[in-house]
Amino acid sequence: MSAPNPASTGLSRTLIARQPYPHRHHNIYRATMSAPNPASTGLFINGTRETGQDVRTGNVTAALAVANIVKTSLGPVGLDKMLVDDIGDVLITNDGATILKSLEVEHPAARVLVDLANLQDSEVGDGTTSVVIIASELLRRGNDLVKNGIHPTTIISGYRSALKAAVSYIKKEMVVHVDNLGDEHLMNAARTSMSSKIIGKESDFFSKMAVDAVKSVKMTATAADVAGYEAMGSSTSATSNKHKYPLSAIHILKAHGKSSMESHLIDGGFAINAMRAAQGMPTMVESTPEAPVKIAMLDMNLQRHRMGMGVQVIVKDPAEIENIKKREMDITKERINKIIDAGAKVVLTTKGVDDLCMKYFVEAGIICARRCVREDLKRLAKATGGRVVTTMADMEGNEAFDADCLGACDSVREVRIGDGEMLYVYGCKGHGASTIVLRGANEYMLDEMDRALHDSLCVVKRMLESNTLVPGGGAAEAALSVHLDDYAHTIDSREQVVIQEYADALLVIPKTLAVNAAKDASELVAKLRSVHAKGQHGDDDPSLKYMGLDLIEGSIRDNLKAGVVEPAISKIKSLRFATEAAITILRIDDRITLNAAQ
Ligand SMILES: Nc1ncnc2c1ncn2[C@@H]1O[C@H](COP(=O)(O)OP(=O)(O)OP(=O)(O)O)[C@@H](O)[C@H]1O
Ligand SMILES: [Mg+2]
Repeated sequence: MSAPNPASTGLSRTLIARQPYPHRHHNIYRATMSAPNPASTGLFINGTRETGQDVRTGNVTAALAVANIVKTSLGPVGLDKMLVDDIGDVLITNDGATILKSLEVEHPAARVLVDLANLQDSEVGDGTTSVVIIASELLRRGNDLVKNGIHPTTIISGYRSALKAAVSYIKKEMVVHVDNLGDEHLMNAARTSMSSKIIGKESDFFSKMAVDAVKSVKMTATAADVAGYEAMGSSTSATSNKHKYPLSAIHILKAHGKSSMESHLIDGGFAINAMRAAQGMPTMVESTPEAPVKIAMLDMNLQRHRMGMGVQVIVKDPAEIENIKKREMDITKERINKIIDAGAKVVLTTKGVDDLCMKYFVEAGIICARRCVREDLKRLAKATGGRVVTTMADMEGNEAFDADCLGACDSVREVRIGDGEMLYVYGCKGHGASTIVLRGANEYMLDEMDRALHDSLCVVKRMLESNTLVPGGGAAEAALSVHLDDYAHTIDSREQVVIQEYADALLVIPKTLAVNAAKDASELVAKLRSVHAKGQHGDDDPSLKYMGLDLIEGSIRDNLKAGVVEPAISKIKSLRFATEAAITILRIDDRITLNAAQ
């Protein structure tokens, strides 16, 4: 690597900020300059300015420093990072976006890469490490080209046409359309995405869980969604079945204790981290054939009614005080009765419930839980087809409880998990929801399992929505590299070199995968390229284009057959995002940092 590797100076959260930039600073017309008044010449800049090659090299060095941090975490044998913040909180992760998010990167160009990882995370969910590595490689090569006398504009247009050729090659040649995607392909994709994570060893168990979870929240897609899938290059047969899979309906709950293999999926159910407010309440309510269990979800305090602050009542007869107290209790009782009369069998609130109200609920045989998380209640409301109620007051100033706000389900049960209890809501009648209850030895592990599962859920969702996949393990990148190299030969302008560099840059993925697996990267990548060149130049064996790395054996194999696959959309988007980020940074040839106002 030509740029100095700042990561070797020790990883720290303010790494980039502290890094000395290897270039000069030009101070232009500082405010202290004497006459003629520089402001009147229009050249006055109260700050520092860097231009040309200096700023480009500075930006590329910073971007490479960021990429070097995540590089060793790529692939099934990639390692994890431990991040400790200033108050000693520890985070252990393999997820590229999470690593970069937790580093407080200050360098503006390096921030572009951090944002890039976040973008990939929100748009695709997986591939955040790859996208950063590709972008930094494109930058490094772009910067070298500029040093060799090629104008940045040529590089930018070269990268653009290479991207275009790459995307159309993936869509035409690499994607495998799997109509009526079987569970086997989905499980393979989920397994590939979690292979590098903490749950990789139990990938059979967790990939099945991820597939079941995503399938359980199937919904009919709107026309706009379908248009989106087509834009992503999905096959037409996939769009004809018009379904969508909102991941927000999958609730992930973490509970300390037991082993990760005791995690489970509650299909069509929703678990809430809350317990019954009083021992006298039933532990379970079940629906009858005529009526489902109704749930009231409140965002308000249920407590004894009190006279408003500052209200004075002068009482002459002490017996009247008793009456006032009684009336206060009656008001509370009427309010609770309104909820009960509406048909609620379960009452959940984000705020408190006092003893008096609890008594009424116990008498009516209702399960009530307090201090629930508001977000959870909102999702439960969606899942059960109800609404979160914030006030019972109506327009006329009276109090009423609308029965339409109640959600419906088959049963609600309190279940003991680990050290505490949880309420399980089974058979939600609204849009449906599923809950994955994760078990694990400690907090770090649970958090990392959550992130890994999120990646896999995203991958399965993308696969189901688009029905297309590409082989992983460097297969797609090697094929693209060979193709782009050929394509470059058909270009008779200066862009040719640029496209060749782009082709070489893509090989950074198989190279990094091999290096992380402690294999001979140069030899493996050479083998990979030669196989793909054979496949694209006449050899009819169709499996040649699916050849990728086997990182355990250190050899080459058909990764489609081996089940190392990724959703095509993930590859296409990561190429697009990486190229755009590289272009954004290469375009910069001037950086002006203004001094803070006095
Ligand atoms: N069994 C496997 N054999 C070979 N390559 C694999 C295997 N499993 C995954 N890969 C490859 O590993 C890469 C993915 O690695 P990883 O999941 O660590 O990074 P990422 O998906 O880019 O980022 P992140 O998961 O952190 O968001 C992909 O290129 C994938 O093809
Ligand atoms: Mg991944």
